Amino acid sequence: MTETPISPRPLAVVVLAAGKGTRMKSALPKVLHPLAGQPMLGHVMATATALGPERIAVVVGAGADQVAAAAGAAVQGVDICLQAEQRGTGHAVRMAEGALAGFEGDLLVLYADTPLLSVATLRRLLAAPGAIKVLGFEAADPGRYGRLVIDGERLLRIVEAKDTTPEEYAITACNSGVMAGDAATMFRLLAKVTDDNAQGEFYLTDVPGIAGAEGLSATATLCAEEETLGINDRVQLAAAEAVFQRRARQAAMLAGATLIDPETVYFAHDTVLGRDVTVGPSVVFGPGVAVADGARIEAFCHLEDTRIGSGAVVGPFARLRGGTEIGANCRVGNFVEMKKTGFGEGAKAAHLTYVGDATVGAGANLGAGTVTCNYDGVDKHRTTIGAGAFIGTHASLIAPVTIGDGAYVATGTVVTQNVPAEALAIARVKQTNREGTARRLREVLAARKAAKKG
Ligand code: UD1
Ligand code: MG
Repeated sequence: MTETPISPRPLAVVVLAAGKGTRMKSALPKVLHPLAGQPMLGHVMATATALGPERIAVVVGAGADQVAAAAGAAVQGVDICLQAEQRGTGHAVRMAEGALAGFEGDLLVLYADTPLLSVATLRRLLAAPGAIKVLGFEAADPGRYGRLVIDGERLLRIVEAKDTTPEEYAITACNSGVMAGDAATMFRLLAKVTDDNAQGEFYLTDVPGIAGAEGLSATATLCAEEETLGINDRVQLAAAEAVFQRRARQAAMLAGATLIDPETVYFAHDTVLGRDVTVGPSVVFGPGVAVADGARIEAFCHLEDTRIGSGAVVGPFARLRGGTEIGANCRVGNFVEMKKTGFGEGAKAAHLTYVGDATVGAGANLGAGTVTCNYDGVDKHRTTIGAGAFIGTHASLIAPVTIGDGAYVATGTVVTQNVPAEALAIARVKQTNREGTARRLREVLAARKAAKKG
């Protein structure tokens, strides 16, 4: 059963993302600052999409090109609306009026700087009574949030912190920034908003008060403060990250993964862990990681854009990235880095190894210190290692190069040519032992040093 009503009204979502984000003190537009490895705008777009809207419009302004590109990358077919001058949240919503012309249904306004809202909470808001519905919360520290002036069931108005009387300032019911209502009604009321306030801006938050003056009802729906955390500076960004991580750790454990020290494991927005996966302390998952059932990630690994097969054991201290695919039951040991590598089922690289731009066959064994020399200073080249091949300790494989199935590369060999299947490749200077030379060498060196001092 889904929570969606049998005949929901069509929905359009407007995402406000034009603000400068002055308090971030950053060259990057605020809404592109990452949370769990994804711009906060991306989180809001994902939440909007989950509501199944007919239309999504994103209002851009500061860093418009960059923000528009990120919005388009997150969800296809969004309307981009330019707010050339940031004159307030009410003005920003009006920028979407043209793009949504002819749309009939509910309008939901989301702020791109409020990325932790749950889909369930938004569904609850959309199902609430009232012509204008506002999502609010009881603030532990109301600070700069807008205050909700509530009388019984009704929301009389919202007052921005800077415009409050002392009595209003003491109100702890605050505005999350999320508002919903019939689209035509919202745009009609927005046209009446003025910039007669402390900040000289057109506030979206004036809409409930204007609705009341017209005899329309406005209501507030409350949710947990944690969901509505608005990010305006980097302290709030870190607070939001902490909330995200706590939720992700809990979700991973409840879905059947063991986290030995959950507080020290960091997830990305899209990390997928299978059942009976064990994650050791201090592991960081960057974006694009999926770990299959029964795999073990030992302490201090850093993984991104990597798929790990079932039963594989990775780490401690492994760094895997760039589209790496680790097969089932592989062993990737300490101080091993892999980039853009396909590592076949059961293959092993147990210690001190770099494998980049490579394909490694099933059951191959890479000895300690194996290095694929993939970069010549200009271009990257591929290394192919066949199934069951054995690469001896400290071998350098100069790409492009192919090592055949079952081949054996002797310890310390610098491989410059392809090695046929089942062949032994050895390239190193033959060893000679000179009797007594070590002693004589030490005497010569000591005499030289004494002569210098004298
Ligand atoms: C806003 C609310 C406040 C609420 C708080 C919750 C208003 C007037 N105030 O305040 O009641 O408690 O959010 O976090 O709405 N934006 C634009 N164009 C603009 C101005 C802002 O697109 O001209 C966007 C920003 O990019 C941001 C969002 O709107 O995503 C909110 O703007 P911000 O300036 O952060 O508003 P707050 O002061 O936090
Ligand atoms: Mg804000």
